[in-house]
Amino acid sequence: MMLDREYVKFSRSRALLDEALKIIPSGASSVLRTYAPSPIFITRGRGSRVWDADGNEYVDYLLAFGALINGHCHPRIVEAIKRQAEELLMSGTPLELEVELARKIQRVVPNAERVLFATTGTEATMEAIRIARAVTGKSKIVKFEGAYHGHHDYVLWSVESPVHGLEISPFRIPYYPGIPEAVGKTVIIAPWNSPEVLRKITKRHRNSIAAIITEPIMANNGVIMPKQEYLKQLREIADEIEALLIFDEVLTGFRIAPGGAQEYFGVKADLATFAKALGGGVPISALTGSKEILDNVGIGKIGFGGTYNAHPVSLAAASANLDILLENNGQAFAQLHKIGNEITKGLREAIDEAKVKAIVQGLGPLFQVFFTDLPQITNYRERLTTDRDAYMEWHKELLRRGILLFAEDGERIVISTQHNKEDVNKTIEAAEEAFKEVKRRLY
Ligand SMILES: Cc1ncc(COP(=O)(O)O)c(C=O)c1O
Repeated sequence: MMLDREYVKFSRSRALLDEALKIIPSGASSVLRTYAPSPIFITRGRGSRVWDADGNEYVDYLLAFGALINGHCHPRIVEAIKRQAEELLMSGTPLELEVELARKIQRVVPNAERVLFATTGTEATMEAIRIARAVTGKSKIVKFEGAYHGHHDYVLWSVESPVHGLEISPFRIPYYPGIPEAVGKTVIIAPWNSPEVLRKITKRHRNSIAAIITEPIMANNGVIMPKQEYLKQLREIADEIEALLIFDEVLTGFRIAPGGAQEYFGVKADLATFAKALGGGVPISALTGSKEILDNVGIGKIGFGGTYNAHPVSLAAASANLDILLENNGQAFAQLHKIGNEITKGLREAIDEAKVKAIVQGLGPLFQVFFTDLPQITNYRERLTTDRDAYMEWHKELLRRGILLFAEDGERIVISTQHNKEDVNKTIEAAEEAFKEVKRRLY
């Protein structure tokens, strides 16, 4: 691939960022969006591609941090949004559409005897934790080191903490200033993928733990797979201490299998949260669980609410999104895995060819490249040892070659159903050159 230096310019994005910084702290209303080194302003998207304010075209692997499972502006989703917007924007009443979408989810998600809708993943995990506390009558939660479950104080602990402590008793560090220590006292931090350590930790607190919350695949530290049997062990440990197991499937849900990680790994959670790929580009989240647990939600019992919960436009779009994913026996998931596997295979060959110290790990449509000597990354502490500078360089070289991914290895690379063979070839060719550039400059 010849790099056309004229074509690769970011001057308009840079000017827009300067303007944004004059009025929006950090330049965007979600601080990661302007993450160095190359914040770009996207103006248009179609299928697997996006265009930026300078007219550069990219194959998109950021996909709105995983939301765009059917790519950009899928005609059936856009049509559903238009139709709904002309029919009813909002009403503040229950909706038939809400029941229909809940049924679609129930058909595929193993624990979905009951379904509730909110607007974001943040709200879904917050509500799940409150419900777990209420139904168990206990107040603490176990949260894993390095895990991200949204932007509320219950879970913003030891997300990216540079200070560790011992594995058996990791330090609990607030992610930001402004998060009360009183809330922190309800959070127990444990290392992920270490059932023996978790058993010891939970034994110490067994009478106060309401829930263990986890991503079934840790996908906010690059992508870290659960060790064989680990999710089953989590299930057992939660049962032993009479706590609920919450699977945060905001990233894995409607991405790795129709029924998410519960289906893929054959482990049922008490509560599961979904967002991102559920909506395919609109704000919607869902909480699923047994009737025994979730029928405790109601007036005079556990509250659940939000003006924008189950917004009609989001319901209509999510419904169309799920139809695309679930029709033809979930053929879309086979396609997602096929394309993901082709890319990861190509990336591994490109790594060998360039002789860089890097690995690719993950599952089909959800994976990450780590620059590391380790054969595998299995937890947060290992992830902190990866060479982030090398990743940033690699990302920058890819950006210049028309491939968009997040700048840092703590996020992940995702695929949509709209990515095709042409995208795969372009990506692998660009990745090969980018690995060679990284090797030349840094090693
Ligand atoms: C695993 C996980 N849980 C929860 C959230 C929060 O979702 P939202 O950004 O929609 O609030 C995210 C967002 O990245 C996530 O990755």
